[in-house]
Formats: sequence, C-alpha cells, structure tokens
Amino acid sequence: MNIIEENLLSPGRQLTDVERDLIWKKPLSHKASEEELRICSEIRRNWHRGEMKIANILLEGDAGSGKTQLAKALSAAFGLPYTKVTCFADMDKSDIIGSILPVISPERLEKMEPAEQTVLKALYESDGFQSTAEILTGVLGMTEEQAAVKVKELCSMLAREKEDEAVSYRFYPSEIVRAYRHGYLLEIQEPTVIRDAAVLMALNSALELDGSLNLPTEIIRRHPDFIAVITTNRSYAGTRPLNEALRDRVQHTEKMDLPGKNIMVDRAMAKTGYTDEEVLDVLADVIILLDQTARANAIKGVAGMRSLFYWADAVAAGTSVHESLYHKVIYKMTTDSEEIKILEDALRSRGLLAGLDKVETERKKKRKF
Ligand SMILES: Nc1ncnc2c1ncn2[C@@H]1O[C@H](COP(=O)(O)OP(=O)(O)O)[C@@H](O)[C@H]1O
Ligand SMILES: [Mg+2]
Repeated sequence: MNIIEENLLSPGRQLTDVERDLIWKKPLSHKASEEELRICSEIRRNWHRGEMKIANILLEGDAGSGKTQLAKALSAAFGLPYTKVTCFADMDKSDIIGSILPVISPERLEKMEPAEQTVLKALYESDGFQSTAEILTGVLGMTEEQAAVKVKELCSMLAREKEDEAVSYRFYPSEIVRAYRHGYLLEIQEPTVIRDAAVLMALNSALELDGSLNLPTEIIRRHPDFIAVITTNRSYAGTRPLNEALRDRVQHTEKMDLPGKNIMVDRAMAKTGYTDEEVLDVLADVIILLDQTARANAIKGVAGMRSLFYWADAVAAGTSVHESLYHKVIYKMTTDSEEIKILEDALRSRGLLAGLDKVETERKKKRKF
C-alpha cells in the first residue's frame, strides 16, 4: 500500500515474499528525524529526473547518532528491501563482486573436514538468490568477515586439488551485487576501513548511477531502484577519512551529530520504557558534557546514545545512578586514570555530579513511600 502511494519503485515491480520480509518495519520507538524527512523528500523530488537522481547517500557523523536506523527508515519509507555490507580492512575484490566456487562431487565432499562440508553444503543448497555472506552468516552464525575469509579459504583449497575430476563452477554474488541487481536499499557501513585502493575503486564504480558491473558470468546493470547509503563515523585523528572518489559519488550528505537533549530523552524513553523525565534529563546532560569533554581533550572513547540507553536502563532497574555512570558510560570511554579524572572534573565543575547525587536521594525518598 505504501509502495503504490510513494510511486517510487519501478512500474510493475513485484517483490517476492523474501524481499518483502527485508523491508524494514518501523518500530513504535522510531521517531522520524529532520534528516530523515529531508532525505525522503530529496529522493522523491529527483527520482524521475535521470542524471539528477539522488540514489547515493552519505551519512557521516557521531557513533549512535542514528545513521543505520535512518538507512533502515528509508527502506520502510520507500518499500525497498534493506540489506547491508559491513566493510573490513582486508576486503578484496571478491567481497565487492562475489566468488566463483567449484561444485565438487558428493564423494569428494564426504572426504572433507566436517566444518568445510557444512559450509559447502550450505552454499550448494542455496538457491543462487542469496549472497554468500547471507548464507554463511544466516545458516552458520558467522560474521560477515569470517564468512569472507572462509569462502576465500575454500576457493584456494578447491583450486589446489582441482585436477582430479571435472567440476562445474558456480558464481556466488556478494551482498552488494545482489542489492545492485535486484534494486534494494544497501547500507555500506564504514568503507573507510578498506585498505586496498583497487577495492575502493571497484566499490566506487558500483555506485555509478547508470553503471554496470562485470561479473565473471555476465554483465549486470544497476537496477533503477537501487539506493546506496554509506554510513561512516566522522574521522578523527588516527582514522582514515572517506575516500575522495567515493565521496564524490554521493548526491546527498547528512552530517549526523549526537541528537539534541530532547530527542535523546525521547529516544531513551522509547527504547527503555523508563519515563522519569527529570532523571533522564540529568543523564542526558551528563552524556552531552562527557561527549564534549572527550572531544576537547582528545579522549578517543565515545559517550553517546547507546551509553545513555544502557545507563538509563540500569537506573530504571534500581542500580545506583553514580555507580552505573562508571560501568555504563565512563569506563566504556576510557579506563585511563588521567582521562577519567578529566571527565570527572568536567562533571563536577558543571555541578552534574551533585545533580546525580540529588537524583539518587530523590529516588530513595520516592522508594520509601
Ligand atoms: N529516529 C530514531 N528514533 C528512535 N531511536 C533511534 C532513532 N535513530 C536511532 N535510534 C536508536 O539509537 C541507537 C543508535 O542508532 P544507530 O542507527 O545504530 O546509530 P549509528 O548507526 O549512527 O551508530 C539505536 O539503538 C537506535 O535504535
Ligand atoms: Mg551504524
């Protein structure tokens, strides 16, 4: 119903049941942000304008600011299946495109190590519609990186002993190819970590608006409904910035910051079910100040939304506000004594430690009644 209203998907496009299941369903706790509304209207505005189409998006900013959830919200808004690829340092071209694996005979399969057998069987039994990453993460509970390493191991192992019998080969597309070919919304998480420049180039050419990909088996064109959302944490000293060529490919960018206090409190309430606004207000103040202090003092750790959720949740369960500040927030940022002292001093000078003690006393009073 959504889909027809939005009129964004290509005319006549029918989603399969599997694809329909991949469309994100907004939970009740989801609150549409300004950024989300802006991107939705931008995409819609230019969807039918050929070269001016907006289909590569960059969300760059703070950890926990809601980048991934925004990508998923676009899936919900446009009725597009959501998938993602989590980049890692050693990615190679087969992780962008996909891998070719020999199909070996059942007799040979039986002679292999049980672990290898399981992986190969899972791959052989798949319907060719899934990506290798999806099969191995789904069936065997591997991470995307483990799955990639495993497939490469198998490739070279099977290649080494291939003389003995005639085998057929089968191509297993990557998650990127799958989304590109079928027209999904693909979140590309943290491509900044990729080390090999050739891999970045392959990714870059996969993001060309009217591009095509050369697979070993065929040439495929970019599906008109394919939307790529690159999500990356803003670079700070010591991390690589996003590759310039990739940056150049995006047609809309949002700077994603730790949300304002009211939104933080709203999201924490929705997430934890804890509704004491006065308490949450103080916790949010603490997180905001810790975030600023960490930046100002080059402390690498992050105080953000995730810390706030876990802290608020512990507080809601009756844990001491002050004590859980350390276990849910500060130690997650750093366990270096000097840095902890800097953070504590900042909280003290703004009266926030006193603020936390006040919250604690009041909670105790309330509990007595
Ligand atoms: N618009 C939103 N409404 C409610 N909760 C949100 C929203 N955006 C993000 N969150 C919550 O904040 C947390 C961090 O969001 P996430 O998208 O994972 O951040 P990022 O990808 O930027 O690190 C998640 O628990 C998520 O559910
Ligand atoms: Mg994320």
